[in-house]
Amino acid sequence: MSPETQTTFPRHVRHGSNSGQPVSRRDGRLKVTGAATYAADNHPEGLLHAVIATSTIARGRVRSLDVEAAKAHPGVVEVITPANRMPLHHDPNEKMPPFGFRVEVLQDDTVRYVNQPIAVVVAETLEAATEGVRLLAPRYEEEDARTGLDNGLRHEAQSVGVGAPGTVSFGDLDAGLKGAARVTEGDYSTPPQYHNAMEPHAVVAEWDGDTVTIDMPNQALRMSAASYAAYFGIPAENVLIRSPFLGGGFGSKAILNGPQILGILAARQLGRPVKLVLTRAQMYGPVGHRGRTWQKLRLGTGDDGKLTALHHHSIGATSSFDDFVEPAANASLMLYESPAIRVEHEGLRLDIGTPGPMRAPGEASGSASLEIAMDEAAEACGMDPLAFRLANYAETQPGTGKPFSSKALRECYEQGAAAFGWAGRPLEAGTMRDENGFLVGWGMGTAVFPCPQFPAEARATLRADGTALVETGGADMGQGAWTALAQLAAESLGLDLDKVEFHSGRSDLPDGGVAGGSGHTASAGQALSNAGGDVIARLTELATGDPDSPLFGAGNIGVVAAEGRLHRRDDETRSQSYADILARAGQKELVGTGKSGRDPASAEAFAMHSHGAVFAEVKIDPNLMQVRVSRLVGAFAAGRIINPKLVRSQYYGGMIWGISFALQEEAVADRRTGRIMNADLAEYHVPVNADVPRMEAILVPEEDPRVSPLGIKGVGEIGVTGTVGAIANAVWHATGIRVRNYPIRIEDLL
Ligand code: MOS
Repeated sequence: MSPETQTTFPRHVRHGSNSGQPVSRRDGRLKVTGAATYAADNHPEGLLHAVIATSTIARGRVRSLDVEAAKAHPGVVEVITPANRMPLHHDPNEKMPPFGFRVEVLQDDTVRYVNQPIAVVVAETLEAATEGVRLLAPRYEEEDARTGLDNGLRHEAQSVGVGAPGTVSFGDLDAGLKGAARVTEGDYSTPPQYHNAMEPHAVVAEWDGDTVTIDMPNQALRMSAASYAAYFGIPAENVLIRSPFLGGGFGSKAILNGPQILGILAARQLGRPVKLVLTRAQMYGPVGHRGRTWQKLRLGTGDDGKLTALHHHSIGATSSFDDFVEPAANASLMLYESPAIRVEHEGLRLDIGTPGPMRAPGEASGSASLEIAMDEAAEACGMDPLAFRLANYAETQPGTGKPFSSKALRECYEQGAAAFGWAGRPLEAGTMRDENGFLVGWGMGTAVFPCPQFPAEARATLRADGTALVETGGADMGQGAWTALAQLAAESLGLDLDKVEFHSGRSDLPDGGVAGGSGHTASAGQALSNAGGDVIARLTELATGDPDSPLFGAGNIGVVAAEGRLHRRDDETRSQSYADILARAGQKELVGTGKSGRDPASAEAFAMHSHGAVFAEVKIDPNLMQVRVSRLVGAFAAGRIINPKLVRSQYYGGMIWGISFALQEEAVADRRTGRIMNADLAEYHVPVNADVPRMEAILVPEEDPRVSPLGIKGVGEIGVTGTVGAIANAVWHATGIRVRNYPIRIEDLL
């Protein structure tokens, strides 16, 4: 491990009871009582309300806006349009690194997608601003919208720093296909899915000269602060983002978008604090979405049931002005052994808002198709789907032959199958019925997701009374960072959790990195743990150098930190409390710092993923053909588990999204206008409790000292990945009908 970025887990720290315990969310009470403040709960003095006017056409230009009518409405303070919008320091047409997105902030009158901001009305009340928007009565010059495969512009996919879709080829695909005993192939599609976090995007901005305080839900505080600073031409430290709680993030709140910037801009331009909250409908356009894909898979198999070739081609919809393409086919580089693999991505330019990361970007859409394709290949080989996957188990990374840092997938298959009762599943489709005469089907899928560790920083302060303050500027979008990260900090400090105060969600704290990519606990947690270790090392120095301490001279023997005391390793009855050590040294507090970031040598040498296996049962009323998921079992291996209760929650959340993906979610666009017809929670279907069956998430033990000293992988996104295909395969097993287009609907089964 690189000593510069990581200290190994301090040996003198006893693995306490904190980490590994199913502690309930420390912020749970605040949330359920309404005491937790979300961005839009802030009402600074003199607050103005901004509402964005968004386009109702997909392509063309705004010919006129009745600005006079809007301004004449009582309470309206200003209408911001391309004609009077204050200049920005960074050209919004230029992509903003590191993720490189171009934003719509009234730079011209061109309309590129439905729900693009075309004006901002600022008023003394929300009602006045809303009415002002209505009075703008925009007129357009409209062009035909490009909405699908037939009229979009196909192009080679560009790498944009998120997911990096490209073309990757190993071995001789043609030879692999020619030499196959059989080739199965299919066309698959996944729909556009839009971000529907409970909390829509919101921003409250208040300027004081050249500094700005921004309340907003944000998954990447420091990075965003730097980007806003660039847009407004001020130093990054002049931007304070506060994001203590998020009502869901899912990737959308990690990426800068136009409406956020417009809210901050309106406050600057008008010299008063401004609040801007997106309506539910406005979430469908300017804040990213899971891009639609059209995928083709070809699998060659030999008589032994082993893959001879795997070809995965994906076309991903993107906007006319940016390049994010869902890296769906990359899923085929992670899971199965094959002498020849080729994955390819193309982009398709449509008149839509730019897609972006959404929970398990790439892997969710890619594995949803790959897992059906694997099921079809197993069927063609006359093999059980699990036996087929085991026959193609990748012992090393497909194509590269790199070893995995750890891979307990076999154990996931075993434990998941046992808990589900997979053994004895009939090979043939359409043979099982339940006591009500419903069709019953069992399907499975493999889950996989990378386990990144991002650079992050943290600070730990031990106080004179023996309690500690630990700080890292990350984000808890609901995954439980307030709890799991504090557990890690407490463990590293040898303190009970209730002695540790945890601060997060502010950009002026040490950079907590990105809460995304399922990497926040691995990243910020390691930084916090290192900061705690740093404190203990300093404390040890004080105690072992103090002739009156019971620990005097114990430096070489070592000490153990536990329960707020340092103990001699060779004689734990000889100990001294932290408070005493600090008091004797005349110190009010002791500050330690820590960083994280993956060791580059390790990253180069090993392939690193979390893995899992998901087993699904569906029941289908033969008269209605309505699909209900009746059982779902997932077994996941993701390195060291810090808080099993929270981790199970993450798996459940992922698996529920899997149900959503397989059976419910789809944004449906009107082909004539490009407008999304179901841009609300009534018609954009996501699962409710009645859609969610009894679920089981099994935590398969796995140790991985290579991913990081703490051995934490990631759990946030993997649950989606195996579940989608497992459900699709269960539908086939119940009915004999192969549906290759998501979501699977009643009409597909009639
Ligand atoms: Mo995620 S799509 O990295 O929040």
